[in-house]
Amino acid sequence: MNILGIETSCDETSAAVVKDGRFILSNVVVSSLKSHAKFGGIIPEIASRRQLECITPVVDKALSEAKCNLNDIQAVAVTAKPGLIGSLIVGISFARAFAEQINQPLIEVDHVKAHLYANFLTRNKNTPQQPKLPAIGLVVSGGHTQLYQIKKMPHFRLLGQTRDDAAGEAFDKVARILGLGYPGGPVIDRLAESHTSDNLTFKAAEMPNTFDFSFSGVKTAVLYHHQKKSPLTKKQTGQTAHAFQESVVDILVRKSLAACRKYKAQTLLIGGGVAANSRLRNALENQGKKLNLAIHVPPIPLCLDNAAMIAGLAYHQVKNF
Ligand code: KG4
Ligand code: ZN
Repeated sequence: MNILGIETSCDETSAAVVKDGRFILSNVVVSSLKSHAKFGGIIPEIASRRQLECITPVVDKALSEAKCNLNDIQAVAVTAKPGLIGSLIVGISFARAFAEQINQPLIEVDHVKAHLYANFLTRNKNTPQQPKLPAIGLVVSGGHTQLYQIKKMPHFRLLGQTRDDAAGEAFDKVARILGLGYPGGPVIDRLAESHTSDNLTFKAAEMPNTFDFSFSGVKTAVLYHHQKKSPLTKKQTGQTAHAFQESVVDILVRKSLAACRKYKAQTLLIGGGVAANSRLRNALENQGKKLNLAIHVPPIPLCLDNAAMIAGLAYHQVKNF
């Protein structure tokens, strides 16, 4: 079964064709990020206008790369939530009209859950194994930080989430405080790699006895540190980035492992933009080996917003109709 996926929740316009919920035949992503960078964050009005310009050519390209014509598509999947309303509407309206035209069902997908589903996708027909369920799933994106228990696709049970800033949002805000530009995650990741924090430490809130997170405190601690020491030298900026990243990675790893222990899961799935973070990937890989846990993190393009994960998860929703 070939599903055409469409994802327009934020600044990426993406369309993909995925076969049987697993094999990526195409996954085209166009980003308007550059148009937002000078404002230090996403401007919803610019994002939705760019979605409108890009959606038709992106879908055309996804179909032609997959070597599919309209008769080869058995369902259309679209991100229904969460996201910027103006951007979502472009994708939803397009998908609805498209599904109507080819006389096939329209499946609405939650894009946060789909971030975890990215771990089940492959371009290679010979990839032997998919992640085993039950699993714990950690979504760390620009807008969400959530922990799920997944016993069976497509059922996700929410265990906890951030009470304030998302992990990616904290990276972006700290980068802004440190004058590092937008988006902050990749810059902090690079800078932290070439520095150590020496004696500087920050600590993200524990939120004891819950699987919830809170990142606004650690962000404010960085702000106060920056104000106190201002102007920071290049080296001090690197040390601050390193110490901040350590605090975020530490709490994400500890809570994810605690959830695996509590719910007796041998599989941990990670997804969302912050899953691209090299320190997080490294820390999880080490813990996985130590604890004999199967840790799955998608290749970097599949960590970010993309339509393949939407089409993939939709396959299980259709089967469950
Ligand atoms: O999942 P995503 O593409 O969009 C949302 O659905 O929000 O995530 C974007 C977020 C941004 O906050 C960005 O700073 C963060 O992912 N990000 C990273 C890295 N690459 C992207 N955060 C930490 N380290 C990275 N390497
Ligand atoms: Zn996302």
